[in-house]
Amino acid sequence: MTAPYYSDELVTLYLGDALDLLPTIEHVDHFIADPPYSEHVHGAARSRVMRDNDRGGKYGADFRRNVDLGFTHLTDEFRAFLAAEAARVTSRWVIVFSDTEGAHLWAEALEDNGLDYVRTGAWIKRGSTPQFSGDRPATGFESLTICHPTGRKRWNGGGAHAVWDVPIVLNRARADKSERVHPTQKPLALMGSLINQFTDFGETILDPVAGSGTTGVAAKRLGRKAILIERDEKHCEAAAHRLESEQTQLVPVTAQERFDFGALA
Ligand SMILES: C[S@@+](CC[C@H](N)C(=O)[O-])C[C@H]1O[C@@H](n2cnc3c(N)ncnc32)[C@H](O)[C@@H]1O
Repeated sequence: MTAPYYSDELVTLYLGDALDLLPTIEHVDHFIADPPYSEHVHGAARSRVMRDNDRGGKYGADFRRNVDLGFTHLTDEFRAFLAAEAARVTSRWVIVFSDTEGAHLWAEALEDNGLDYVRTGAWIKRGSTPQFSGDRPATGFESLTICHPTGRKRWNGGGAHAVWDVPIVLNRARADKSERVHPTQKPLALMGSLINQFTDFGETILDPVAGSGTTGVAAKRLGRKAILIERDEKHCEAAAHRLESEQTQLVPVTAQERFDFGALA
């Protein structure tokens, strides 16, 4: 295994390609991943209105930054690879974010590798971008495909719904360190909520497409271990910086104590 880019008592971050590094991982408790979205979503990011904006249209440079996601879309091969690896290494929950159009493909791929499909959840993206063209409804949520190996399942969420209503990460500093450093960064409160509900103190979570390391930051805050892989050095650097400034949690805490859940339904 290659040397970590960053490590502490709970989190290890590798700079490299998941295609090379995932096969070297033997076992984790949970797999929580936010892979690149399908070509449809990346392609849609370059609609006519947005291309106009690229040329200096009415929404200006900030909007242009949103358009360029800076990484390539998901391929069928990469989905199949991640699904097979998730099934191989994970003993408990497998949770994969996707655009809603691709959620059934994730369920199929994970089931093909022997996992039980449990539920499709939704992250309601509070405060997300409206449909600027005005000719159709805007996308307001993302899907989470939730799977588990066959056998007994348990979570800490009781009878709660698989719906998480959490504000998006804005492009400005927030008190809870969720300042946006990655174009598709997940909110810390969202990842904290998932980790609190699906995993237990001391367990290990794998995120092989870690971006700015939100899964790792939330894990560290709740006393879970995390293994992160990210192939873009600038995202790795951002992740390492976020992880460094996060205190190691060595005793069990409730997520309520550690996250601002004011926005959660
Ligand atoms: C949707 S983003 C994850 C964002 C992350 N959840 C966060 O909060 O910052 C997906 C990430 O996967 C990375 N990625 C794509 N293909 C990869 C691969 N083969 N190996 C490792 N990382 C990869 C991209 O560079 C990108 O940063």
